[in-house]
Amino acid sequence: MGTHLFPLLLVAILFSTSSPAAASPHISAIISQSGLDFAKDLLVPLAADTLAHLSVPDIERSVNIPLIGIVRVVASGIVLEGVAVADSTVAAGDTGVVVAASLSSVNLTMEWSYSYGSWLVTISDSGSASIQVEGMDIGISMGMKNENGSLKLFVTECGCYMKDLDITVNGGSSWLYQVFIDGFSNHIRSSVENAITNKITEGASKLDLFLENIPKEIYVDKVTTVNVTFVDDPLFKSSSVQFDIDGLFIPSDKTALSKHMHFGDTKFAQPLGKSSNMLWISLDEDVFNSVSALYFKAGSLQHIVDKVPNQFLLNTASWRFLIPRLYRKYPNEDMLLNISAIAPPSVRINVGGVDATVDLDVIVNVLSSGDIVPVACISLSVAVSGGASVSGNNLVGRVELDYFSFDLKWSDIGKLHTSVVQRVMRIVLKDLFVPYVNSYLGKGFPLPIIKGFLIKDAYILTSRSRIIVSSDVAFVEPMKTIGIKQFVRSISEGMSITTL
Ligand SMILES: *[C@@H]1O[C@H](CO)[C@@H](O)[C@H](O)[C@H]1NC(C)=O
Ligand SMILES: *[C@@H]1O[C@H](CO)[C@@H](O)[C@H](O)[C@H]1NC(C)=O
Ligand SMILES: *[C@@H]1O[C@H](CO)[C@@H](O)[C@H](O)[C@H]1NC(C)=O
Ligand SMILES: *[C@@H]1O[C@H](CO)[C@@H](O)[C@H](O)[C@H]1NC(C)=O
Repeated sequence: MGTHLFPLLLVAILFSTSSPAAASPHISAIISQSGLDFAKDLLVPLAADTLAHLSVPDIERSVNIPLIGIVRVVASGIVLEGVAVADSTVAAGDTGVVVAASLSSVNLTMEWSYSYGSWLVTISDSGSASIQVEGMDIGISMGMKNENGSLKLFVTECGCYMKDLDITVNGGSSWLYQVFIDGFSNHIRSSVENAITNKITEGASKLDLFLENIPKEIYVDKVTTVNVTFVDDPLFKSSSVQFDIDGLFIPSDKTALSKHMHFGDTKFAQPLGKSSNMLWISLDEDVFNSVSALYFKAGSLQHIVDKVPNQFLLNTASWRFLIPRLYRKYPNEDMLLNISAIAPPSVRINVGGVDATVDLDVIVNVLSSGDIVPVACISLSVAVSGGASVSGNNLVGRVELDYFSFDLKWSDIGKLHTSVVQRVMRIVLKDLFVPYVNSYLGKGFPLPIIKGFLIKDAYILTSRSRIIVSSDVAFVEPMKTIGIKQFVRSISEGMSITTL
């Protein structure tokens, strides 16, 4: 992990310039060039698909034909039969991203008709035509800004340029063919270009709707929810885009959001860009301290121990010689320990890993004729350290006991031998407390990932006061199999952020 010098340098560069803003972000997500490529490779085929069967408004012109006179010519039912994307690129600049695509072939079909009056009769004819476009370039620049904590996408420019048109007119007379070559092709060209530009801009507004509908909260459990409100405008740099998110945990509303979607045993779609990791998410230690404060406040950091690996330890008879007063008062009674945090655990992140300290009270209770009788209280100060990893779309953790110190807070059973307390507390911490904590950390916390996407091949870096998750992103296969149309619909209806 520590040998990734390049990523570390990159991280230092990526996260060094935080803009001076009012609200301070606690999570930043950076989409790198390969992440932009991934998104582009997902969206360009969708956009191309929406262009297929695109109808272009009819074109009607009056042309003066020598020897015939004024002829009304109509090109109608102009439809793009299909487009093939040859190449596409995405680039981030200072103000937004630009996506450009070259289409290798574009075919259109249309109907033609003409009519003209010759003395008393009207002469008319109609037929079909096909148009082959030699090539076409489409480009769109988009910017994004923060509007009330949501992302607002806007199109700054959208253009379409068609190369040569090759028109095949079926039927008609020779002058008609000339009319199309001379006058109509430019009209067809600009109508098609306009229709495509409008369609692409419309597609971008669906993307905007999707961004707007990204929820501002991710429900974790009854106690906590992550505030994923965007703070500041996205930061566009050359070849990356940074999104800043509030990221702190807030209390869950009673009206909890629906439970997260499970993807089960879905397969990953292959990420397309492979050069470097697509996504970098940086979480500062305040994120972890905010969740610890909430759990503490909710009274969740409490644990009753009535079973231990060496069960005899939880019976007063075992303490007959070491704590004679206990045995004398409560001979042969079961005991239980009530462990509770007396302050929110404090988390510190450093280059070496994650450390946490927690102050606990361990109340020793005796179960005496159905009552729980507290007989002593030991206060513990416990230090653990560990690391994080990614499981599904969650950041999970694992800690080990580093050291602990203790004090006898009060006792109704006389003084306790230091070495005895030390030994018992070590057992309790190592065999019960740490595994208990790890069972929670193993479930972890959701990373802000948009529904339908999965984190893949993640690795974790820890730096001063932050954890950085670097990963690729995969598109969940079922989305692919439901078909592009439905995906477009689900995008336009707005998808939501969710977690595994
Ligand atoms: C357009 O027509 C040509 C010739 O008929 C064909 O080879 C090509 O595959 C078509 N392209 C699309 C995108 O339909
Ligand atoms: C932001 O929210 C406030 C209050 O909800 C509203 O008055 C304002 O119009 C919103 N601004 C935009 C740009 O939507
Ligand atoms: C969520 O974060 C935003 C931005 O920092 C903040 O304005 C808002 O008050 C937060 N929501 C809650 C419920 O704390
Ligand atoms: C455990 O200790 C806490 C804090 O002193 C107390 O609030 C709680 O009622 C105790 N629980 C039991 C089961 O004794």
